[in-house]
Amino acid sequence: MFHFSLVVATIASIMKFEVSKKSLDLISTDIIVFFLFQQKGKKSSFVPTKLFDLLDKKVKGQLSLACQADKFTGKVGEKVSFFTSSMIPATKILVIGLGEKEKWNYSVIRKALGSFASSHKNVINSAVLTLPEIFDEKSFDSLVIAMTESMLLGSYQFVKYKEKKKEERVFELTIFASDIDEKKVKKAIEKGELYAKATTIARDLINEQASVATPTYLADLANDIAKSSSAISCRIIEKKEAEKLGFDAFLGIARASDTPPKFIVLEYKPKKSPSKKKLALIGKGITFDSGGINVKPGDHMQDMKMDMSGAALVLGVFSVLAQIEPSFEVMGVIAATPNLISGKGVVPGDVVRAYNGKTIEILNTDAEGRVTMADSLSYAVKQGATEIMDFATLTGACLVALGEDIAAIFANEATFGEKVKEAAKKKGEKVWELPLDEDYKSMNKSEVADIANIPNSRYGGTITAALFLQEFVNKVPWIHFDIAGPAFASRPSSLGPKGGTGFGVRTVLQYIEEESKK
Ligand code: BES
Ligand code: MG
Ligand code: ZN
Repeated sequence: MFHFSLVVATIASIMKFEVSKKSLDLISTDIIVFFLFQQKGKKSSFVPTKLFDLLDKKVKGQLSLACQADKFTGKVGEKVSFFTSSMIPATKILVIGLGEKEKWNYSVIRKALGSFASSHKNVINSAVLTLPEIFDEKSFDSLVIAMTESMLLGSYQFVKYKEKKKEERVFELTIFASDIDEKKVKKAIEKGELYAKATTIARDLINEQASVATPTYLADLANDIAKSSSAISCRIIEKKEAEKLGFDAFLGIARASDTPPKFIVLEYKPKKSPSKKKLALIGKGITFDSGGINVKPGDHMQDMKMDMSGAALVLGVFSVLAQIEPSFEVMGVIAATPNLISGKGVVPGDVVRAYNGKTIEILNTDAEGRVTMADSLSYAVKQGATEIMDFATLTGACLVALGEDIAAIFANEATFGEKVKEAAKKKGEKVWELPLDEDYKSMNKSEVADIANIPNSRYGGTITAALFLQEFVNKVPWIHFDIAGPAFASRPSSLGPKGGTGFGVRTVLQYIEEESKK
């Protein structure tokens, strides 16, 4: 794999994937993992597989006895483990229920393997994963990708600031695939590793403290990424140049801080005949959101280091883009600055002019994300983007509406929206579309400028924020993701610990791959 000097290795265990066709009763490993379905209709029993029966014979029927004793039915999440007492070289066998085959989807296996990885990452050194008995050659690819991703994401931890780090260890993971071409399995594993790596880079950036993950830090990483591939270039627009270009909205928010703001532009160009398509990925890059003079309340303010999760997503995606090889141009744009408090900052009532000429009345300095993004979005339009996706931890209202796991999405063009929803579904990232309702636009009216940065109503805050952004994308097909909920986890899940999740990285990569096939 590859390595960027700035990104700390936070996975304490290094996972090494292998493929094996050796008979299961001959493989020496800490644990063999089996997946079994539940009988359709007959909920009281599981469906044994050939492989299961074979292994059961080798351990003198003890495996099926263990399943009986623990009343294993194959229900989703049910588990039975069994020590082989040296009857075979593997130490332990773990059986995991997948529910009824007819109701099965990838998130079942993602959850199962994610929690397996998270609970075993510091306990065992090796595991053999068998494949659930399903489908055709085609879905097999997605299955191995999902399994690889879940193992890597489930075992993720951010340990940089722990005095006592667990020692780095190698976790050997073998995927047992007896009747599938080994090269195919290896390719799928590599793809899964790539997706997980991109997600992990985003997680690291989000989890990093704001005093380290500054705009300069993000800009340095962007430069590093560009250096790693001839297909990617990077341009950092410094404050002076930004002033000349007219990024007044972004600079207005940046004014309160001493740390230099960075307007980061990444560009990927395909080596082969370029298509007309140019996808722009815009990430909100507020490296810390104090609220500004409309200061946030003190509880949980520490979480506001995550207000650059959109930027982290863009950098995560770009870190693997050269390997994904999109068939069209991809641009990344991040207006990076913290939103701090000082005598130099904007105050309510101030008016700033965005890059596209529209004026914005700042009525609340805590609605800073949309102000900075007014410039990054209009820059992407001016640069000829034919499609725009933006990612922003934009509104607390989004958490009220959809909770912590689901992102709100908005689309000004239905087919684009459908394609992105499809990609999100495939990767198990939850999104829900909200309307860009014309009638709500009037809530963003300003008495003195073209638009106000907060609405004159307490309600529908996620929608009015999206309508604000829409003013800066013209008619370019555009999707806005409000990731205020899923970007940062307040509790651990099967796919990762508390903190940055890297939400959206895999959906974007999936979308780019699908589009590149055309
Ligand atoms: N970064 C916040 C939104 C946010 C809140 C993200 C909680 C994640 C968790 C954003 O800059 C903000 O403060 N928005 C304000 C807008 C309001 C002043 C119109 C909000 O949502 O309260
Ligand atoms: Mg380059
Ligand atoms: Zn804010």
